[in-house]
Amino acid sequence: MSDGVDHSPHTAHRKHFLSDRVEHFTESVIRDMTRQAMLHGAVNLAQGFPDFPAPAEIKQAAQQAVAADLNQYAITWGAKNLRNAIARQMGVWQGIEVDPEKEITVCCGSTEAMISTLLAVCNPGDEVVIFEPFYENYGPDSVLSGAKPKFVKLRPPQTENGTWTFDENELRRAFDKHTKAIILNTPNNPTGKVFTREELELIRDLCLEFDVLAITDEIYEHILYDGAKHIAMVSLDGMRERTVTINGMSKTYSVTGWRVGWAVAAEKITNAIRKVHDFLTVGAPAPLQEAGAAALNLPAEYYAQLAGRYRERRDHLMPALTAAGFRCFRPQGAYYVMTDISAFAFDDEVAFARHLVAEIGIACVPGSSFYRHARDGARQVRFAFCKTPKTLDEAARRLEKLRGRVRLRTPG
Ligand SMILES: Cc1ncc(COP(=O)(O)O)c(C=O)c1O
Repeated sequence: MSDGVDHSPHTAHRKHFLSDRVEHFTESVIRDMTRQAMLHGAVNLAQGFPDFPAPAEIKQAAQQAVAADLNQYAITWGAKNLRNAIARQMGVWQGIEVDPEKEITVCCGSTEAMISTLLAVCNPGDEVVIFEPFYENYGPDSVLSGAKPKFVKLRPPQTENGTWTFDENELRRAFDKHTKAIILNTPNNPTGKVFTREELELIRDLCLEFDVLAITDEIYEHILYDGAKHIAMVSLDGMRERTVTINGMSKTYSVTGWRVGWAVAAEKITNAIRKVHDFLTVGAPAPLQEAGAAALNLPAEYYAQLAGRYRERRDHLMPALTAAGFRCFRPQGAYYVMTDISAFAFDDEVAFARHLVAEIGIACVPGSSFYRHARDGARQVRFAFCKTPKTLDEAARRLEKLRGRVRLRTPG
Protein backbone atom coordinates (compact mmCIF):
# COMPACT_ATOMS: atom_id res chain seq x y z
CA MET A 1 0.00 0.00 0.00
CA SER A 2 1.25 3.45 -0.82
CA ASP A 3 0.81 6.31 1.61
CA GLY A 4 0.81 8.69 -1.35
CA VAL A 5 4.26 10.01 -0.40
CA ASP A 6 7.13 9.14 -2.69
CA HIS A 7 9.92 7.19 -0.99
CA SER A 8 11.82 6.17 -4.11
CA PRO A 9 15.24 7.79 -4.59
CA HIS A 10 14.56 7.87 -8.37
CA THR A 11 11.54 10.11 -8.07
CA ALA A 12 12.31 12.03 -4.90
CA HIS A 13 11.20 15.27 -6.56
CA ARG A 14 7.64 13.94 -6.60
CA LYS A 15 5.66 15.11 -3.62
CA HIS A 16 2.54 13.10 -4.29
CA PHE A 17 0.70 11.31 -7.06
CA LEU A 18 -1.54 14.21 -8.06
CA SER A 19 -1.16 16.60 -10.98
CA ASP A 20 -0.78 20.32 -10.32
CA ARG A 21 -3.83 20.84 -12.51
CA VAL A 22 -6.34 19.44 -10.01
CA GLU A 23 -5.08 21.72 -7.26
CA HIS A 24 -6.55 24.73 -9.05
CA PHE A 25 -10.20 23.86 -8.59
CA THR A 26 -12.46 22.14 -6.10
CA GLU A 27 -15.20 19.56 -6.42
CA SER A 28 -18.54 20.79 -7.74
CA VAL A 29 -20.47 22.64 -5.01
CA ILE A 30 -23.74 22.02 -6.88
CA ARG A 31 -23.30 18.26 -6.89
CA ASP A 32 -22.16 18.36 -3.25
CA MET A 33 -25.41 20.15 -2.34
CA THR A 34 -27.34 17.26 -3.92
CA ARG A 35 -25.52 14.83 -1.62
CA GLN A 36 -26.33 17.09 1.37
CA ALA A 37 -29.99 17.19 0.31
CA MET A 38 -30.06 13.39 0.38
CA LEU A 39 -28.36 13.32 3.78
CA HIS A 40 -30.91 15.69 5.33
CA GLY A 41 -33.99 14.49 3.45
CA ALA A 42 -34.26 18.00 1.99
CA VAL A 43 -36.20 19.18 -1.06
CA ASN A 44 -33.45 19.45 -3.66
CA LEU A 45 -33.68 22.82 -5.38
CA ALA A 46 -29.90 22.81 -5.80
CA GLN A 47 -28.96 20.74 -8.83
CA GLY A 48 -30.72 21.43 -12.14
CA PHE A 49 -32.36 18.11 -12.89
CA PRO A 50 -36.10 17.53 -13.33
CA ASP A 51 -37.95 15.27 -10.87
CA PHE A 52 -40.71 14.51 -13.40
CA PRO A 53 -40.85 11.92 -16.21
CA ALA A 54 -39.18 12.36 -19.58
CA PRO A 55 -41.51 12.34 -22.65
CA ALA A 56 -42.98 8.86 -23.25
CA GLU A 57 -42.10 8.91 -26.98
CA ILE A 58 -38.40 9.29 -26.39
CA LYS A 59 -38.29 6.65 -23.63
CA GLN A 60 -39.99 4.29 -26.06
CA ALA A 61 -37.45 5.14 -28.75
CA ALA A 62 -34.63 4.32 -26.29
CA GLN A 63 -36.26 1.00 -25.37
CA GLN A 64 -36.70 0.11 -29.03
CA ALA A 65 -33.08 0.96 -29.81
CA VAL A 66 -31.84 -1.32 -27.02
CA ALA A 67 -34.23 -4.10 -28.13
CA ALA A 68 -33.05 -3.71 -31.74
CA ASP A 69 -29.51 -4.26 -30.46
CA LEU A 70 -28.11 -0.86 -31.22
CA ASN A 71 -25.86 -1.62 -28.29
CA GLN A 72 -22.36 -1.34 -29.72
CA TYR A 73 -20.21 1.74 -30.28
CA ALA A 74 -21.85 4.32 -32.50
CA ILE A 75 -19.65 6.21 -34.99
CA THR A 76 -17.29 8.06 -32.68
CA TRP A 77 -18.53 11.54 -33.69
CA GLY A 78 -22.18 10.54 -33.45
CA ALA A 79 -24.90 8.28 -34.85
CA LYS A 80 -25.92 9.40 -38.33
CA ASN A 81 -29.62 9.67 -37.45
CA LEU A 82 -28.90 12.02 -34.58
CA ARG A 83 -26.45 14.18 -36.56
CA ASN A 84 -28.99 14.48 -39.36
CA ALA A 85 -31.66 15.52 -36.85
CA ILE A 86 -29.33 18.10 -35.26
CA ALA A 87 -28.47 19.56 -38.67
CA ARG A 88 -32.15 19.74 -39.61
CA GLN A 89 -33.04 21.51 -36.36
CA MET A 90 -30.16 23.99 -36.71
CA GLY A 91 -31.81 24.90 -40.01
CA VAL A 92 -35.28 25.26 -38.47
CA TRP A 93 -34.29 27.02 -35.24
CA GLN A 94 -31.22 29.06 -36.19
CA GLY A 95 -31.57 29.32 -39.97
CA ILE A 96 -28.10 27.82 -40.32
CA GLU A 97 -27.14 25.18 -42.84
CA VAL A 98 -24.93 22.57 -41.18
CA ASP A 99 -23.19 19.59 -42.79
CA PRO A 100 -23.95 16.62 -40.52
CA GLU A 101 -20.98 14.70 -41.94
CA LYS A 102 -18.38 17.37 -41.26
CA GLU A 103 -19.60 19.86 -38.70
CA ILE A 104 -21.17 17.97 -35.78
CA THR A 105 -19.60 16.03 -32.91
CA VAL A 106 -21.92 14.17 -30.54
CA CYS A 107 -20.44 13.90 -27.05
CA CYS A 108 -21.27 12.59 -23.57
CA GLY A 109 -23.39 15.60 -22.68
CA SER A 110 -22.71 19.22 -23.46
CA THR A 111 -20.26 18.99 -20.55
CA GLU A 112 -17.96 16.84 -22.64
CA ALA A 113 -18.63 18.97 -25.73
CA MET A 114 -17.36 22.03 -23.82
CA ILE A 115 -14.18 20.45 -22.44
CA SER A 116 -13.43 18.72 -25.77
CA THR A 117 -13.80 22.06 -27.53
CA LEU A 118 -11.52 23.88 -25.10
CA LEU A 119 -8.91 21.10 -25.26
CA ALA A 120 -9.14 21.26 -29.06
CA VAL A 121 -8.60 25.03 -29.35
CA CYS A 122 -6.55 26.23 -26.36
CA ASN A 123 -2.81 26.38 -25.87
CA PRO A 124 -1.08 27.23 -22.57
CA GLY A 125 -1.14 31.00 -22.19
CA ASP A 126 -4.35 31.47 -24.14
CA GLU A 127 -7.07 33.41 -22.37
CA VAL A 128 -10.78 32.64 -22.32
CA VAL A 129 -13.33 35.36 -21.50
CA ILE A 130 -16.18 34.23 -19.22
CA PHE A 131 -19.09 36.25 -17.85
CA GLU A 132 -19.56 35.90 -14.11
CA PRO A 133 -21.62 34.67 -12.34
CA PHE A 134 -20.93 31.60 -14.49
CA TYR A 135 -21.95 27.97 -14.72
CA GLU A 136 -19.36 26.42 -12.45
CA ASN A 137 -17.84 23.99 -14.99
CA TYR A 138 -16.31 26.75 -17.12
CA GLY A 139 -13.55 27.66 -14.64
CA PRO A 140 -12.18 24.10 -14.24
CA ASP A 141 -12.72 23.49 -17.99
CA SER A 142 -10.41 26.41 -18.78
CA VAL A 143 -7.80 25.26 -16.23
CA LEU A 144 -7.87 21.68 -17.57
CA SER A 145 -7.34 22.95 -21.09
CA GLY A 146 -4.37 25.09 -20.02
CA ALA A 147 -6.17 28.39 -20.66
CA LYS A 148 -6.50 31.30 -18.28
CA PRO A 149 -10.06 32.44 -17.56
CA LYS A 150 -10.69 36.21 -17.65
CA PHE A 151 -13.93 37.24 -16.00
CA VAL A 152 -16.35 39.99 -16.96
CA LYS A 153 -19.08 40.92 -14.48
CA LEU A 154 -22.79 40.59 -15.08
CA ARG A 155 -24.49 43.08 -12.76
CA PRO A 156 -27.80 42.22 -11.12
CA PRO A 157 -30.89 44.19 -12.10
CA GLN A 158 -31.92 47.11 -9.91
CA THR A 159 -35.63 46.61 -10.46
CA GLU A 160 -37.79 43.51 -10.08
CA ASN A 161 -38.28 43.07 -13.81
CA GLY A 162 -34.87 44.34 -14.93
CA THR A 163 -32.17 42.17 -16.48
CA TRP A 164 -28.51 41.46 -15.70
CA THR A 165 -26.22 43.77 -17.65
CA PHE A 166 -22.52 44.11 -18.40
CA ASP A 167 -20.28 47.08 -18.91
CA GLU A 168 -19.22 47.42 -22.53
CA ASN A 169 -15.83 48.89 -21.60
CA GLU A 170 -15.09 46.16 -19.08
CA LEU A 171 -15.84 43.57 -21.77
CA ARG A 172 -13.56 45.35 -24.25
CA ARG A 173 -10.74 45.48 -21.69
CA ALA A 174 -10.97 41.67 -21.30
CA PHE A 175 -10.02 41.19 -24.96
CA ASP A 176 -6.38 41.36 -26.07
CA LYS A 177 -3.85 39.48 -28.19
CA HIS A 178 -3.93 36.50 -25.78
CA THR A 179 -7.69 36.03 -26.01
CA LYS A 180 -8.52 32.77 -27.78
CA ALA A 181 -12.21 32.41 -27.02
CA ILE A 182 -15.24 33.74 -25.19
CA ILE A 183 -17.64 31.34 -23.51
CA LEU A 184 -21.19 32.58 -23.72
CA ASN A 185 -24.14 30.88 -22.04
CA THR A 186 -27.55 32.09 -23.20
CA PRO A 187 -30.17 31.56 -21.78
CA ASN A 188 -27.89 31.84 -18.79
CA ASN A 189 -27.33 29.72 -15.73
CA PRO A 190 -27.42 30.97 -12.96
CA THR A 191 -28.87 34.42 -13.77
CA GLY A 192 -31.68 33.53 -16.20
CA LYS A 193 -30.41 36.28 -18.52
CA VAL A 194 -31.14 35.95 -22.23
CA PHE A 195 -28.58 37.96 -24.21
CA THR A 196 -30.17 40.47 -26.58
CA ARG A 197 -29.27 40.92 -30.25
CA GLU A 198 -27.50 44.21 -29.43
CA GLU A 199 -25.38 42.52 -26.75
CA LEU A 200 -24.55 39.61 -29.06
CA GLU A 201 -23.58 42.03 -31.84
CA LEU A 202 -21.26 43.84 -29.47
CA ILE A 203 -19.60 40.53 -28.53
CA ARG A 204 -19.51 39.57 -32.21
CA ASP A 205 -17.71 42.81 -33.10
CA LEU A 206 -15.06 42.13 -30.45
CA CYS A 207 -14.63 38.54 -31.69
CA LEU A 208 -14.03 39.86 -35.20
CA GLU A 209 -11.71 42.67 -34.09
CA PHE A 210 -9.54 40.42 -31.89
CA ASP A 211 -9.88 37.24 -33.99
CA VAL A 212 -11.58 35.33 -31.19
CA LEU A 213 -13.73 32.19 -31.20
CA ALA A 214 -17.20 32.21 -29.57
CA ILE A 215 -18.06 29.02 -27.71
CA THR A 216 -21.75 29.20 -26.91
CA ASP A 217 -23.58 26.97 -24.45
CA GLU A 218 -27.20 27.06 -25.61
CA ILE A 219 -28.50 24.16 -23.55
CA TYR A 220 -31.52 26.19 -22.31
CA GLU A 221 -32.44 27.53 -25.76
CA HIS A 222 -36.07 26.38 -25.52
CA ILE A 223 -36.71 27.49 -21.94
CA LEU A 224 -37.75 31.13 -22.35
CA TYR A 225 -40.25 33.40 -20.59
CA ASP A 226 -42.14 36.65 -21.05
CA GLY A 227 -41.52 36.85 -24.80
CA ALA A 228 -37.71 36.52 -24.57
CA LYS A 229 -36.14 35.27 -27.83
CA HIS A 230 -33.09 33.06 -28.10
CA ILE A 231 -30.61 34.28 -30.70
CA ALA A 232 -27.81 31.93 -31.64
CA MET A 233 -24.42 33.61 -31.99
CA VAL A 234 -23.65 31.46 -35.05
CA SER A 235 -26.54 33.12 -36.91
CA LEU A 236 -24.94 36.59 -36.70
CA ASP A 237 -23.09 37.92 -39.75
CA GLY A 238 -19.41 36.99 -39.62
CA MET A 239 -19.79 34.31 -36.92
CA ARG A 240 -20.47 31.15 -38.94
CA GLU A 241 -16.78 30.17 -39.08
CA ARG A 242 -15.86 31.35 -35.59
CA THR A 243 -18.60 29.90 -33.39
CA VAL A 244 -18.82 26.54 -31.67
CA THR A 245 -22.48 25.96 -30.76
CA ILE A 246 -22.93 23.57 -27.85
CA ASN A 247 -26.25 21.99 -26.97
CA GLY A 248 -27.68 18.72 -25.72
CA MET A 249 -30.66 16.64 -24.72
CA SER A 250 -30.43 17.06 -20.93
CA LYS A 251 -32.59 20.12 -20.40
CA THR A 252 -34.84 20.23 -23.48
CA TYR A 253 -35.98 16.61 -23.08
CA SER A 254 -35.57 16.22 -19.29
CA VAL A 255 -32.98 13.44 -19.58
CA THR A 256 -29.95 14.77 -17.70
CA GLY A 257 -28.79 11.21 -16.97
CA TRP A 258 -28.58 10.14 -20.61
CA ARG A 259 -25.43 12.12 -21.28
CA VAL A 260 -26.00 13.13 -24.89
CA GLY A 261 -24.84 16.54 -26.12
CA TRP A 262 -23.10 17.98 -29.16
CA ALA A 263 -20.82 20.64 -30.60
CA VAL A 264 -21.50 22.22 -34.00
CA ALA A 265 -18.58 24.02 -35.65
CA ALA A 266 -16.85 24.63 -38.98
CA GLU A 267 -15.09 21.57 -40.41
CA LYS A 268 -11.54 22.42 -39.32
CA ILE A 269 -12.56 23.06 -35.70
CA THR A 270 -14.86 20.02 -35.75
CA ASN A 271 -11.96 17.80 -36.84
CA ALA A 272 -9.96 18.94 -33.81
CA ILE A 273 -12.93 18.48 -31.44
CA ARG A 274 -13.57 15.00 -32.85
CA LYS A 275 -9.96 13.96 -32.19
CA VAL A 276 -10.15 15.01 -28.53
CA HIS A 277 -13.61 13.50 -28.09
CA ASP A 278 -12.56 10.16 -29.59
CA PHE A 279 -9.71 9.71 -27.13
CA LEU A 280 -11.65 11.06 -24.15
CA THR A 281 -14.81 8.97 -24.37
CA VAL A 282 -14.96 7.22 -27.82
CA GLY A 283 -18.64 8.01 -28.04
CA ALA A 284 -21.93 8.82 -26.36
CA PRO A 285 -24.37 5.97 -25.50
CA ALA A 286 -25.48 4.47 -28.84
CA PRO A 287 -29.15 3.61 -28.11
CA LEU A 288 -29.72 6.98 -26.45
CA GLN A 289 -28.39 8.74 -29.53
CA GLU A 290 -31.09 6.97 -31.56
CA ALA A 291 -33.66 8.16 -29.03
CA GLY A 292 -32.13 11.62 -29.46
CA ALA A 293 -33.00 11.53 -33.15
CA ALA A 294 -36.62 10.76 -32.16
CA ALA A 295 -36.57 13.59 -29.61
CA LEU A 296 -35.40 16.16 -32.14
CA ASN A 297 -38.36 15.13 -34.30
CA LEU A 298 -40.96 16.06 -31.67
CA PRO A 299 -43.51 18.58 -32.98
CA ALA A 300 -43.20 22.34 -32.35
CA GLU A 301 -45.97 22.16 -29.69
CA TYR A 302 -43.61 20.16 -27.48
CA TYR A 303 -41.28 23.14 -27.11
CA ALA A 304 -44.09 25.63 -26.51
CA GLN A 305 -45.48 23.35 -23.80
CA LEU A 306 -42.03 22.91 -22.23
CA ALA A 307 -41.55 26.67 -21.89
CA GLY A 308 -45.15 27.18 -20.67
CA ARG A 309 -44.76 24.58 -17.91
CA TYR A 310 -41.47 26.09 -16.76
CA ARG A 311 -43.09 29.51 -16.61
CA GLU A 312 -45.75 28.06 -14.30
CA ARG A 313 -43.04 26.53 -12.10
CA ARG A 314 -41.13 29.82 -11.97
CA ASP A 315 -44.30 31.65 -11.01
CA HIS A 316 -44.99 29.01 -8.36
CA LEU A 317 -41.63 29.26 -6.59
CA MET A 318 -40.85 32.98 -6.85
CA PRO A 319 -43.74 34.30 -4.71
CA ALA A 320 -42.92 31.73 -2.00
CA LEU A 321 -39.29 32.88 -1.98
CA THR A 322 -40.27 36.56 -1.93
CA ALA A 323 -42.71 35.98 0.96
CA ALA A 324 -39.95 34.22 2.91
CA GLY A 325 -37.63 37.25 2.62
CA PHE A 326 -35.56 36.60 -0.52
CA ARG A 327 -35.11 39.25 -3.21
CA CYS A 328 -35.61 37.37 -6.47
CA PHE A 329 -34.02 38.25 -9.80
CA ARG A 330 -36.70 37.25 -12.30
CA PRO A 331 -35.24 34.90 -14.93
CA GLN A 332 -36.08 35.39 -18.62
CA GLY A 333 -34.85 31.91 -19.46
CA ALA A 334 -33.36 28.64 -18.07
CA TYR A 335 -34.84 27.14 -14.89
CA TYR A 336 -33.12 28.86 -11.98
CA VAL A 337 -33.84 31.87 -9.86
CA MET A 338 -30.92 33.78 -8.35
CA THR A 339 -31.83 35.50 -5.12
CA ASP A 340 -30.34 38.09 -2.79
CA ILE A 341 -30.28 37.05 0.87
CA SER A 342 -29.23 40.38 2.38
CA ALA A 343 -32.42 40.44 4.45
CA PHE A 344 -31.31 37.43 6.48
CA ALA A 345 -28.92 37.74 9.37
CA PHE A 346 -26.21 35.35 8.25
CA ASP A 347 -22.49 36.00 7.87
CA ASP A 348 -22.42 34.51 4.39
CA GLU A 349 -24.41 32.46 1.95
CA VAL A 350 -22.59 29.21 2.75
CA ALA A 351 -23.71 29.39 6.39
CA PHE A 352 -27.18 30.32 5.13
CA ALA A 353 -27.31 27.39 2.65
CA ARG A 354 -26.19 25.01 5.41
CA HIS A 355 -28.96 26.27 7.67
CA LEU A 356 -31.49 25.98 4.86
CA VAL A 357 -30.63 22.37 4.04
CA ALA A 358 -30.21 21.09 7.61
CA GLU A 359 -32.90 23.06 9.51
CA ILE A 360 -35.49 24.07 6.92
CA GLY A 361 -35.06 21.08 4.59
CA ILE A 362 -34.37 22.85 1.29
CA ALA A 363 -31.15 22.57 -0.69
CA CYS A 364 -29.98 25.57 -2.73
CA VAL A 365 -26.61 26.53 -4.22
CA PRO A 366 -24.45 29.14 -2.44
CA GLY A 367 -23.71 32.08 -4.75
CA SER A 368 -19.93 31.81 -4.32
CA SER A 369 -19.85 28.73 -6.54
CA PHE A 370 -20.70 30.99 -9.50
CA TYR A 371 -17.95 33.56 -8.88
CA ARG A 372 -14.17 33.64 -8.97
CA HIS A 373 -14.01 35.45 -5.60
CA ALA A 374 -16.31 33.94 -2.96
CA ARG A 375 -17.10 37.42 -1.60
CA ASP A 376 -18.89 38.39 -4.84
CA GLY A 377 -21.48 35.68 -4.30
CA ALA A 378 -21.69 36.06 -0.53
CA ARG A 379 -25.22 37.48 -0.59
CA GLN A 380 -26.70 35.26 -3.27
CA VAL A 381 -28.12 31.75 -3.46
CA ARG A 382 -29.65 29.97 -6.46
CA PHE A 383 -32.78 27.81 -6.55
CA ALA A 384 -33.71 25.40 -9.37
CA PHE A 385 -37.41 25.13 -10.21
CA CYS A 386 -37.32 22.17 -12.64
CA LYS A 387 -39.56 20.29 -10.22
CA THR A 388 -43.14 19.01 -10.02
CA PRO A 389 -45.84 21.27 -8.53
CA LYS A 390 -45.92 18.85 -5.57
CA THR A 391 -42.19 19.36 -4.90
CA LEU A 392 -42.60 23.12 -5.23
CA ASP A 393 -45.61 23.08 -2.87
CA GLU A 394 -43.52 21.24 -0.31
CA ALA A 395 -40.69 23.74 -0.76
CA ALA A 396 -43.16 26.63 -0.29
CA ARG A 397 -44.50 24.98 2.88
CA ARG A 398 -40.99 24.60 4.29
CA LEU A 399 -40.07 28.15 3.33
CA GLU A 400 -42.83 29.38 5.64
CA LYS A 401 -40.75 28.03 8.54
CA LEU A 402 -37.88 30.24 7.50
CA ARG A 403 -39.52 33.40 8.74
CA GLY A 404 -39.94 31.92 12.21
CA ARG A 405 -36.44 30.46 12.35
CA VAL A 406 -34.34 33.21 10.82
CA ARG A 407 -33.96 36.62 12.34
CA LEU A 408 -34.69 39.17 9.64
CA ARG A 409 -32.36 42.15 9.67
CA THR A 410 -34.24 45.28 10.57
CA PRO A 411 -33.90 47.95 7.92
CA GLY A 412 -31.63 50.92 8.54
C1 LIG B 1 -25.21 26.04 -18.57
C2 LIG B 1 -25.10 24.57 -18.49
N1 LIG B 1 -24.35 23.93 -19.38
C3 LIG B 1 -24.22 22.60 -19.36
C4 LIG B 1 -24.85 21.84 -18.38
C5 LIG B 1 -24.66 20.35 -18.39
O1 LIG B 1 -25.22 19.81 -19.52
P1 LIG B 1 -25.10 18.27 -19.94
O2 LIG B 1 -26.03 17.50 -19.06
O3 LIG B 1 -25.50 18.24 -21.38
O4 LIG B 1 -23.68 17.86 -19.75
C6 LIG B 1 -25.63 22.47 -17.43
C7 LIG B 1 -26.28 21.68 -16.36
O5 LIG B 1 -26.77 22.16 -15.39
C8 LIG B 1 -25.77 23.86 -17.49
O6 LIG B 1 -26.51 24.53 -16.60
